[in-house]
Amino acid sequence: MAPFRYVAAAALVTLVTASSSSKRGLCVIPPRDNPYHAEDENVWTTHPHSHLNWYYNYESTPTRAYECTYDFEFVPMFWGAPEGGFIGATPFLDSIRQQLKAGANITHVLGFNEPDGLFEDGAANIPAQVAAKEWTRQLEPLKHHGIKLGAPAVTGTPDGTMWLQDFFYYCNGTCSPDFLPVHFYGSFEAMASKVTEWGYSHQDLPTTQHAFVESIRMFDDWRNITRYAYFGAFRSDTSNVGANSAMLTEKGELTDIGSWYLGGSRTNKMPHSSWAENLKAKMNTIRLGVFVALVGVLVDW
Ligand SMILES: *[C@@H]1O[C@H](CO)[C@@H](O)[C@H](O)[C@H]1NC(C)=O
Ligand SMILES: *[C@@H]1O[C@H](CO)[C@@H](O)[C@H](O)[C@H]1NC(C)=O
Ligand SMILES: *[C@@H]1O[C@H](CO)[C@@H](O)[C@H](O)[C@H]1NC(C)=O
Repeated sequence: MAPFRYVAAAALVTLVTASSSSKRGLCVIPPRDNPYHAEDENVWTTHPHSHLNWYYNYESTPTRAYECTYDFEFVPMFWGAPEGGFIGATPFLDSIRQQLKAGANITHVLGFNEPDGLFEDGAANIPAQVAAKEWTRQLEPLKHHGIKLGAPAVTGTPDGTMWLQDFFYYCNGTCSPDFLPVHFYGSFEAMASKVTEWGYSHQDLPTTQHAFVESIRMFDDWRNITRYAYFGAFRSDTSNVGANSAMLTEKGELTDIGSWYLGGSRTNKMPHSSWAENLKAKMNTIRLGVFVALVGVLVDW
């Protein structure tokens, strides 16, 4: 394991010099999924080096704390749909139109969150047929407003690929996403063989840090990745992907990863966890998802 430290240190040089990446954004974890520490919300925007350019929060409306933050673009998400779809109603479309009317600058919207995944894991779990119908009704019309649409963000598994195929089958030519959000998982080999090697949760700290640094470098380098957000904006003791991936310690201080993500330097604050490790022991495996969401690919955005 020792060599990881050196590799991480070397890679960090690249990370720091690339720290003005306009691609980097924040994946905001809604309070219901994370015991709430109101003061944590400000860490991401007030850090002296912070240069995060955009965020999403799994919802259609902005996070209140960021509404007045200049240059921090909100990207709404059409998270999911009730069983059978929204009968007659178009709440997502209405919400976006209302925000546009009020002067919001919405340039991109994200489609369904892990529609092929299990509801218990925080995934939307909607049948491809329902998703196709809702996409046509509530997302496609947003193209008239010049908004770019992100395809449904499936889990990085064979089920995800199959779900997407079904989705486009049911769309029958009426769904035209502009870019493809990608969730990286330990098992997702299609995106890049490198990620499978590094992108596991519940790893020791040097391994996790190494994976982080290398992934960021790849995301910054690859021109077909136009934006990305790291899944880690929470405290280590409430992480469902292992304490070491978290950007905050259990006390709310920036970990090394948290600081690097904001363009800062190593803090030597160690992430600890009791909750996550207990849960791990109990359930044996928790969802493997770690590395990050998103993005890019069908066209530049
Ligand atoms: C809207 O946001 C985009 C991306 O951040 C930016 O390029 C564009 O200039 C903004 N438009 C307005 C009218 O502010
Ligand atoms: C798919 O679209 C084609 C061309 O618009 C149309 O002829 C066909 O009936 C559609 N199929 C279904 C199942 O809706
Ligand atoms: C994105 O770009 C990288 C590096 O140029 C390439 O290896 C990869 O295959 C591309 N991926 C897609 C989905 O186009």
